[in-house]
Amino acid sequence: MSGLSVEAWAKVNLYLHVTGRRDDGYHLLDSLVAFAGIGDTITVSPSSALSLTVDGPTAARLDVDDDNIVLRAARALAQAAGRPPQAHLHLTKRLPVAAGIGGGSADAAATLRALSRLWGVRLAPAALHALALSLGADVPVCLRGRPTRMSGIGETLADAPSLPPAWVVLVNPLIGLSTPAVFKARQGCFSDPMPLESRPADAAALARMLAARDNDLSAAAISLVPEIAVILTALNRDGCLLARMSGSGATCFGLFPDPAAAAAAAAAIAADYPAWWIKSASLISST
Ligand code: C5P
Repeated sequence: MSGLSVEAWAKVNLYLHVTGRRDDGYHLLDSLVAFAGIGDTITVSPSSALSLTVDGPTAARLDVDDDNIVLRAARALAQAAGRPPQAHLHLTKRLPVAAGIGGGSADAAATLRALSRLWGVRLAPAALHALALSLGADVPVCLRGRPTRMSGIGETLADAPSLPPAWVVLVNPLIGLSTPAVFKARQGCFSDPMPLESRPADAAALARMLAARDNDLSAAAISLVPEIAVILTALNRDGCLLARMSGSGATCFGLFPDPAAAAAAAAAIAADYPAWWIKSASLISST
């Protein structure tokens, strides 16, 4: 398709600790966020009005109405730039919807990037950050698209140590999970923020670093979608260095030291569970 395309990479929360709760109900987080080299694509092109079309393997599960987050992102950027929201947006959807790996947040961030270029808009970084946060707590980190230590509700972002070469297998049972429902179901006390060690030398060292950390939303997500526990067991096979849930689920990832091990695990899991969405991808390593 002609136009200007930006990739919306899948977000992977390598760990996710819930450290508190704000008065407005939002939760304070401490998370190491990375991105996998698989995602959706946003293509923007000039038009006299704002419109959105979608295609792709997971597009059927998407609500394409006026409230879609990519249209909200386009309108918010146009308003901030003081210009009419004139563009055609095309979303090629490859990631599952409501899946804990960014999805809508990454699409919104890619829309902001693509339309900024199409319209020649250069918002100040602080204004762009605030606009992204107004669209969703995960949109600012998706705008960065590189390994990031995330805190606050998602608004406090710092460069993480660059990651070693590593590969993930992403598995989703194609059961959507509502983020508010998972936060609501969460029980137990809050985690303390932990210092992050310097750059792990290789994928095994990264897995050792992550072993002491978990996803504090896993138990709540499993209580809503028990298949997540089955996925974590299926991922924990030969060659897998670590298996965890990402975000509020239901997608889980297994960490692998090389692409062949990841591809073999993905194929073996797909043979056992043909109904699941299963992909292997590299982790985007640089800061
Ligand atoms: O900001 P976003 O629309 O992605 O958040 C969806 C919902 O997830 C919020 O309304 C809130 O219930 C929950 N949430 C939270 N703490 C966060 C992020 C999301 O409680 N840090």
